[in-house]
Amino acid sequence: MSQPAQPFVPESQRILESFMDYSGLNVLRERESVFQQLLLDRMEVLGYASLQRYEQALQEPQLREQEYQGFAVKLTIGETYFMRHSQVFDALREAWSSELEAGRIRPYRIWSAAASIGCEAYSINILLEELKQRFPALQRQILASDLNQDFLKTAREARYGDWSFRSLDPGFRNRYFQQQGTLWELRPELRQDVQFFFCNLLADFPAQLTGLYGQLDALFCRNVLIYFDPETIRSLAKRFFQMLAPGGWLVLGPSENNWEIFGEFEAVTHQGAVLYRKPDGKKPPARLTTPVTLPSMPPSPAVPVRTDQPKTSASRDAKADHSREHIRSLLSQGKREEALRCVKDALVTQDLNPEYHMLSGYIEEAAGEVRIAGEHYKRALFLDREHPAAQFLQAQLGVKHLPPKVALRQLRIARSVLESAHEECLWLPLEDLSVEAALRILRGLEDEVKA
Ligand SMILES: C[S@@+](CC[C@H](N)C(=O)[O-])C[C@H]1O[C@@H](n2cnc3c(N)ncnc32)[C@H](O)[C@@H]1O
Repeated sequence: MSQPAQPFVPESQRILESFMDYSGLNVLRERESVFQQLLLDRMEVLGYASLQRYEQALQEPQLREQEYQGFAVKLTIGETYFMRHSQVFDALREAWSSELEAGRIRPYRIWSAAASIGCEAYSINILLEELKQRFPALQRQILASDLNQDFLKTAREARYGDWSFRSLDPGFRNRYFQQQGTLWELRPELRQDVQFFFCNLLADFPAQLTGLYGQLDALFCRNVLIYFDPETIRSLAKRFFQMLAPGGWLVLGPSENNWEIFGEFEAVTHQGAVLYRKPDGKKPPARLTTPVTLPSMPPSPAVPVRTDQPKTSASRDAKADHSREHIRSLLSQGKREEALRCVKDALVTQDLNPEYHMLSGYIEEAAGEVRIAGEHYKRALFLDREHPAAQFLQAQLGVKHLPPKVALRQLRIARSVLESAHEECLWLPLEDLSVEAALRILRGLEDEVKA
């Protein structure tokens, strides 16, 4: 039975504030009861008689670091998957191909700065491995760090479930991974160039990064800035700028663009991806579009502003945002339940909007509610048979759960809808996917089902 929530006591409040200063995770304000329970558990394990004693003990820097690392293991959200927001990888492939064609010999040095369980760092390595097939002299060093020691352990083991490949055709997984029971293990030769280590982005950068100032060709820091307040992001923007080599790329998550904070960089677009480039006095590679003129771009509202008081549910409701971008942002922060609540709220008044049924289907599917997910996709398609994202998601679900004949029929229908779609990109709950890539995935699945 669940325990009644205990009032949040001043000791917990102070430790929470201190942990938020340590980690930058200001969203934890909304998880006070979880945090307090964690403190009570630790107090008991370590044998302190009260939270007051535990708080005193945390003044000792070594114990504090150890405990805060433990909190990070429990409280961080590591939502990630291979080739996430694939447009970014397409853009870098273009940029790096141009350099290599022009005779670049310097090794590539890349840092994935909030690497979670490693999908991002290994995706970069796979991209570079593919380029190496065309440019055999290519060398690379990939550094990958995170605040969560458990994620880092999983990253080093490099074994992943199907969910980590959710946006990819099975050919990708089969090419680079070996099946181990229900998991897929990255081939050893693709692990050796990637080094994982602990790094708190709010502290001094660790020894693994010294010597690399001004040397990085790309720095990925995706889907973590959403948790930080603007001051922290501003200071990171400066430090990242220093770490990058002239012409180096800073890659943020799709809802983390902030033209004002990253104004020292050039913003460059490529087929739905925005990347930031440290200016080097030269033009960006011709195949990437001209830099966006920064002053004309509005600041992104997506970066959360730290508030001094926790939000009450009343104040949240007053400004309820049901936009799909808001729902995407919740999903990318791992707030699946909140996203579902938001979609359900929207459906109360907009039950005839296929978009919300598609979103509902996606979230239910992610929670393992396959039957409910299927019903929502069906409803979305009943309302709009040509809805490309609903067709795409329903077909993927069918491959996993329906007899091959039915799955194949759905795949073909989805393919024909996508082939005549007017859009260039599918708006999927976590990211945009080019219609071309979606069609590639559907064809791959068709081949798999036929086999
Ligand atoms: C949502 S995951 C993003 C993973 C990956 N970058 C991606 O976009 O797929 C966010 C990661 O940021 C890490 N993180 C949170 N606070 C951090 C901090 N202060 N320093 C370093 N990493 C942090 C979390 O542990 C988590 O693994």
